[in-house]
Amino acid sequence: MTISRQTYLKRGYRRIGGWLFPYSARFIDSLLDLQLESGVQGAVGEIGVHHGKLFLLLALGRRPGESAFAIDVFDDQHLNLDRSGAGDRDIFLANARRWLEPANRLDILQRSSLDVRPDDLLRLCGPVRLASIDGGHTEDCVLNDLALIGAVLAPRGVVVLDDNFNEFWPDVSSGVARYLFDPAARLRPFAITPNKTYFAAAEDAGFYRRALRNRNGYYFEKTARLFGNDVDIFGTQAYSFSLKKRVIEWVRHTPVAPYARALRATVRRLAR
Ligand SMILES: C[S@@+](CC[C@H](N)C(=O)[O-])C[C@H]1O[C@@H](n2cnc3c(N)ncnc32)[C@H](O)[C@@H]1O
Repeated sequence: MTISRQTYLKRGYRRIGGWLFPYSARFIDSLLDLQLESGVQGAVGEIGVHHGKLFLLLALGRRPGESAFAIDVFDDQHLNLDRSGAGDRDIFLANARRWLEPANRLDILQRSSLDVRPDDLLRLCGPVRLASIDGGHTEDCVLNDLALIGAVLAPRGVVVLDDNFNEFWPDVSSGVARYLFDPAARLRPFAITPNKTYFAAAEDAGFYRRALRNRNGYYFEKTARLFGNDVDIFGTQAYSFSLKKRVIEWVRHTPVAPYARALRATVRRLAR
């Protein structure tokens, strides 16, 4: 039986241990749809999978033949230097068996990401179109992981980084700063959702900002500047869920809009 991402989001995701805000899960789901519809190709996967909460959503968003890579120290927790989560290979594999089809290819590296080179990843699964970085939360790990995924990113690939604005993990934001201040850095931030920051190559940021605002307009809150880059913020404030905003977005995105415009034009003409 093929399990859809919708079924996983409704019935699976809440039962799996880990950290992923519901709105960010839905936003990443829309990012997977966008990549599939616009022909972005490559592997998906995660550094720091824990029990697989986000990994499974990514893995369910593959085309046949695309790989899903999972990098985690798992039971070698002495390599988890800052005690961020606690991967468990058996629980992860049991969840993968429950939610993914047996034929689905999983490429697992039980290793610290500090010991993974771009060539290792390319040999394992090829260029990567969507990767989550949520492994070690030290400055060095974040810097390493952004550079690692940046080096293997497929055309139009995206990176989702966890905890960049989490006050409990300040090393993450300083790792990001160190990465972005390097003139050779390939990735630029373009969006933020609860506890997630999204990066793409500079030339792709405009495409993702336009397309994601189109799909997630109801939750769009504002555009801000982050290290010289425009970033769109979605779903972080209660205002996102207000009735007024819901009505505005409903009118914008349903066929009622042309009628509303025609009605407005008629009223204006009659008022002249
Ligand atoms: C916060 S948890 C990940 C949560 C997961 N993304 C989810 O969806 O719930 C962090 C994970 O990173 C792993 N980890 C910690 N340091 C690591 C490192 N240097 N390399 C790879 N994995 C690491 C931990 O074992 C743990 O499973």
